Amino acid sequence: MAGIRLKDIHKTYQVDGRTFPVLNGVDLEIPEGKITVILGQSGCGKTTLLRLTGGLESADSGEVLWDGAHKTAFVFQEPRLMPWLNVWNNIIFGLKKNQVDQEKIQDIVSTVNLSGFEKAYPSQLSGGMQQRAAIARALAYEPTFILMDEPFAALDYFTREQMQRELLRVQQKEHSSIMFVTHSIDEALILGDQIVMIEKGLVKHVYPVKAPSRERNLLDEEFIALKRDIIENLNFIN
Ligand SMILES: Nc1ncnc2c1ncn2[C@@H]1O[C@H](COP(=O)(O)OP(=O)(O)OP(=O)(O)O)[C@@H](O)[C@H]1O
Ligand SMILES: [Mg+2]
Repeated sequence: MAGIRLKDIHKTYQVDGRTFPVLNGVDLEIPEGKITVILGQSGCGKTTLLRLTGGLESADSGEVLWDGAHKTAFVFQEPRLMPWLNVWNNIIFGLKKNQVDQEKIQDIVSTVNLSGFEKAYPSQLSGGMQQRAAIARALAYEPTFILMDEPFAALDYFTREQMQRELLRVQQKEHSSIMFVTHSIDEALILGDQIVMIEKGLVKHVYPVKAPSRERNLLDEEFIALKRDIIENLNFIN
């Protein structure tokens, strides 16, 4: 299947003259047009893996193989908005003037529930609103591949659910490929076509999620069983 393949990725960091291994031979396929969710303990290397996959950083060894050309957008663990630009100008920041379709941007603003805040500056927004502006900025770029690092962690329960639904809607419409890091097993089950568990710098498990529809009910037996399986594996890690 077309997509991205990670082959035997190794990555170490040097801190204060000491070497810390982070990724110790990651092999992973990220299929095109699907959502790959990454789960794992804090510090296990999820952000590092995302940055390597998106080309923001290079591996010590191993390969990141892209099948075809991709337009890549990042949603980072923190919003990273330009403080001197208002919401609207942050969203269109990466676009050329002739690429700005006012109607489309307005649509995206409403998708992330920021209508009425187009002229607000980041300092005038809550953390969750800033994060939604960052998501809007990524969507405005019309990416084919989106790397999302705990994008909904700062949102309240209802907004988070709503953003999950919107993300699924956008993903189905655009057939984009998504790599999505979260600490929430429920979120992984709602969004993932495959759920990847990282432990000690390696892929510990890949759970394919085969659901008949995108409207998933986490109380269905198959999801309860899968959740139990994931929790047992996470407990095993702890
Ligand atoms: N630029 C860097 N320089 C040195 N060490 C780094 C750097 N970036 C990450 N690390 C180290 O690599 C390890 C993995 O970090 P990473 O940010 O990938 O973890 P994570 O799984 O995303 O954690 P979290 O769930 O807390 O976001 C950590 O031990 C971290 O200290
Ligand atoms: Mg991280």
